[in-house]
Amino acid sequence: MVERAAALLATAHHAVVLTGAGVSAESGIPTFRGEGGLWTKYDPVKVSSIDSFLADPASYWRVSKERGTVALSARPNAGHDALAAMEAAGHLVAVVTQNTDGLHQVSGSRRVIELHGSGRTVRCLECGKLEPRADVQARLEVEMPPRCPNCGGTFLKPTVVLFGEPMPTDAINEAFDLARQADVMLVVGSSLVVYPAADVPLVAIRSGARLIVINAEPTPFDRFAAVVIHGRSGEVLPEIARLIGA
Ligand code: APR
Repeated sequence: MVERAAALLATAHHAVVLTGAGVSAESGIPTFRGEGGLWTKYDPVKVSSIDSFLADPASYWRVSKERGTVALSARPNAGHDALAAMEAAGHLVAVVTQNTDGLHQVSGSRRVIELHGSGRTVRCLECGKLEPRADVQARLEVEMPPRCPNCGGTFLKPTVVLFGEPMPTDAINEAFDLARQADVMLVVGSSLVVYPAADVPLVAIRSGARLIVINAEPTPFDRFAAVVIHGRSGEVLPEIARLIGA
């Protein structure tokens, strides 16, 4: 199956990849669903929706503090590096990601569309001040919820999309444009249950793209795929990159 995926990517003229939390699992960042997923421990509506955040920012920050410790120290894994190498070799046009950890950019991917925003910065909703997420993490031991150093407000929110918030318009429009032009759509490490992100591969299929799914577990889109590989992205992607000479 890896050979078939490599053959499709080697002959593609406009291959696009959609990634999810699974591509960062081997960097130590827990996924949301599947074995050990964050949402097996917490109710996302209670800890990661815009309504729950505005009602009680501490409910969000208590979970984000735990996840931030791991995410802020995480390094790209071989899967991220393989995708960056494929792009550099001209086999991949862009990375569309649901992840907010920034690891694609750290590994060298150049065209990265962040559908769910970036966890690298935090904005005060009251005065608009932006600061690095790492600076806020450092205060969480003594400030829960964290306070804005500029106005003292307690509605500091990472620049990520919470449940109930719209996705960034530019990002979703660019992602759908890429999907419409794609001749190969690769999906890596996503359960493909969150929309409209999961619409991206559907738009690609409707435009005639061949779908490749690489995921540790079956997904609802396996049935539409030309190639399905149930495996770890940190192992499968480097093998594909090697086969296509990336
Ligand atoms: N390699 C490949 N796939 C993996 C690996 C791995 N090493 N480890 C886990 N997976 C798979 C899991 O089996 C799961 O199907 O990655 C998938 C991750 O799915 P989710 O945790 O649902 O992540 P994602 O699809 O990105 O979630 C979408 O939901 O909660 C929101 O905003 C959050 O962006 C996230 C969105």
